[in-house]
Amino acid sequence: MVAFGVTGDLMRLKVIPALFALHAHGDLPEKFRLVGFSRRDWGDEEFRTYIRGVIIERVNDAKEVDVATFLNLLHFQSGDFSNKESYVSLKHTVDALDASWGVCTNKIFYFAVAPGFYRSIIEDMSLSGLSEGCSQEDGWTRIIIEKPFGHDGVEAERLEKLLATSFQEEQIYRIDHYLAKESLRTMLESRLGGDFFGETWSAENVESITIRLLEDIGVEKRGGFYDTVGALRDVGQNHMLEILALLVMERPAYRTAKAIREKRADALEALEIIAHEDMSTKTIRAQYDGYRDISGVAPDSITETYFKIRASLRSAHWLGVPIILEAGKRLGESRKEVVIHFKNGTDTVIRIGSENAVQYSEEYKHLLLEAIRGDQTLFVSKREVEAMWRFADPIVRAWYEGTERVPLHTYQPDTSDIYTRAGW
Ligand code: BG6
Repeated sequence: MVAFGVTGDLMRLKVIPALFALHAHGDLPEKFRLVGFSRRDWGDEEFRTYIRGVIIERVNDAKEVDVATFLNLLHFQSGDFSNKESYVSLKHTVDALDASWGVCTNKIFYFAVAPGFYRSIIEDMSLSGLSEGCSQEDGWTRIIIEKPFGHDGVEAERLEKLLATSFQEEQIYRIDHYLAKESLRTMLESRLGGDFFGETWSAENVESITIRLLEDIGVEKRGGFYDTVGALRDVGQNHMLEILALLVMERPAYRTAKAIREKRADALEALEIIAHEDMSTKTIRAQYDGYRDISGVAPDSITETYFKIRASLRSAHWLGVPIILEAGKRLGESRKEVVIHFKNGTDTVIRIGSENAVQYSEEYKHLLLEAIRGDQTLFVSKREVEAMWRFADPIVRAWYEGTERVPLHTYQPDTSDIYTRAGW
């Protein structure tokens, strides 16, 4: 595995602890190496010291023997993402490992960098021969990328074109960590098994579906990033729509990743695109008081930190069932759930599970193992990305054209102020 941006937050908080846990449980392939790539002027020893610190900081009761053996699997490649020579050196490092084992190894390239770096990484991987691999079966090459998959549909398409210059869809693993959550994996299993509310699971019996992602935390130190994204693009366009896809997709005929991803995409493509004139009745947005004072946030920002959307599906099976999507930051509680309201008056609540280091590590363990195994079920397909943007784009566009059509409310942070006021 080669990790671009190995010294960033994503690696420190999620990927390294997960890799370490896999190693400690003996779940990594017998021949495994992690090559970290970043600008730091380090050698293997400095890198190993850094990773030791990460493990001590992030993993409770890590055993010294596991730490020591894990560190032996690490190598470092110093380099600039935009410098072609760095990739040539990286290729040498990787080739030397292959040579020491006498095999052409399978390779995963993890893009733990801002999307702005993707272009030069992909181009230079290609120029240096890094993206080639030996074949699809033996000595394969895969890449892992994380959201945001573009800033809107147009940008996503551009990104996909770029990825397609060097990789096939089968080689691209797009992470939405929600798909790896235990609650969502259980949901998928019961959808596949057909026992998810059995025959009653349709518009005939369901009054409404609400998906909530209420967070107590704020935007913390991510002001600069968050202000360009907002709540809908941060968690709505991806995590919440994937939850919806799993809930309402048709049961695939086969249990393959391909069949499941196609059904999820079909479900997302059935989302009714909200018409411009309906934005004021079907969408609500708000920003918490004090948000504009956060470092990196524009003083006149109209970025939403809360939203509520009344969506619907065009599929015959779900016609007329309101789908309520509600999410936001600093809402005084952490409540991540699906509430299914049945026509007979009963409610069923499915908890999604909240944020903590142990859970992230569990999610990333699954994601990494599946990427190594080559099962794309837990990863987002190109079609899903496109469908999610088709739904989200017009909403964001209507919101950002000004505050006339859809007013931007202000709410008191750390209270239930806004969602008790929001209506429907
Ligand atoms: C991330 C968002 O994708 O998901 C964060 O960028 C959000 O803003 C997080 O807090 C929520 O994920 P989880 O797993 O903590 O529910």
